[in-house]
Amino acid sequence: MRALLFDQPAADTSTTRVGEVATPEPGPGEVAIDVRAAGVNFIDVMARRGDAGYATGWPFVPGLEVAGTVRSLGAGVSGPAVGTPVAAFTATGGLADVAVVRGELVVEIPAGLSFEQAAVAPGTLTTAALLLGPTGRLREGDSVLVHSAAGGVGQALASLARLHGAGLLLGTVGGAGRAAAAEKAGYDAVVVRGDGIVDRVRELTDGRGVDLILDPQGTDWIETDLELVAAGGRIVLFGNAGGTPLASLPAAGRLFGGNAAIGGFSIRGYAAKAPWMVAEALSEVLQRLSRGELQVEPTVVDGLENAPEAQQALADGRGEGKYVVRL
Ligand SMILES: NC(=O)c1ccc[n+]([C@@H]2O[C@H](COP(=O)([O-])OP(=O)(O)OC[C@H]3O[C@@H](n4cnc5c(N)ncnc54)[C@H](OP(=O)(O)O)[C@@H]3O)[C@@H](O)[C@H]2O)c1
Repeated sequence: MRALLFDQPAADTSTTRVGEVATPEPGPGEVAIDVRAAGVNFIDVMARRGDAGYATGWPFVPGLEVAGTVRSLGAGVSGPAVGTPVAAFTATGGLADVAVVRGELVVEIPAGLSFEQAAVAPGTLTTAALLLGPTGRLREGDSVLVHSAAGGVGQALASLARLHGAGLLLGTVGGAGRAAAAEKAGYDAVVVRGDGIVDRVRELTDGRGVDLILDPQGTDWIETDLELVAAGGRIVLFGNAGGTPLASLPAAGRLFGGNAAIGGFSIRGYAAKAPWMVAEALSEVLQRLSRGELQVEPTVVDGLENAPEAQQALADGRGEGKYVVRL
């Protein structure tokens, strides 16, 4: 089968190619999927540049999320039947003709959804659902601040936070050029990170601060997050886009005094320890997509050959929302 391959760590597309690899067979408890569409994610970029804990070896097949049809079932798996349209969180290996995943992570695609729409669900939309639900514990009316609000996950969080009952929705972006995309995604106000962010957010929250802060910027903005979090609020760290070394967490005294909680999030962690929670969140977002409550308009890229350019757009910060590769 054909797969996208990273031969060596690289900051650009020079070590990425489409190549032939052995077609994987499902082991016990696994399902093989004929991939029809696969999401492009910043996590592919982190694997390609060699960030610790992402690529499991070289050459490496990236790909976090797929939509396709069931190709075959491993021992002990009774469904969905071969040929059923499904979506699944793959963690790795999704940018290939065939992906093999744990059966618990496979969810049927409701009628009426295209493979390209469904391919946004297992990684990007499910990450948003898990961040807001089990990890962020969003309550009705809570204010939410999302850093990197114009990215794929950032835009997904805006739509889903409203459906989960969020009140004021604030986004931050690293450059003014991305503010319009974040506003279009549904944020009430978008702030360019830098001087003045604390005053601006205090003003927007009438001095109260923010109930839930979702931060994919490593630990670079944690001091600012602590200044911005409301009493009883939560900060969730869920990425390290810049790839800079992570700093130690603030001393416990800061958390006592600030009445603040700092938590971490990893969809791969949920998939490994509690796959049913990933499947539940994936079912939720697929149902919302099929009912029209959530809309996604991914940029569709044709063929694995064009995936490296989409990944490079994300790496360069030129990404415009979500990209999906049609196979
Ligand atoms: N923990 C998990 O399980 C999990 C799951 C999915 C995604 N994530 C994380 O969520 C983030 C968004 O993912 P995505 O797929 O939505 O990616 P995306 O669409 O490419 O968005 C990434 C955003 O990160 C910022 N960025 C890009 N390059 C950067 C760099 N070199 N240094 C600092 N900031 C940079 C940009 O926002 P600014 O406007 O802020 O510059 C960009 O909009 C990533 O950090 C990803 O690792 C984590």
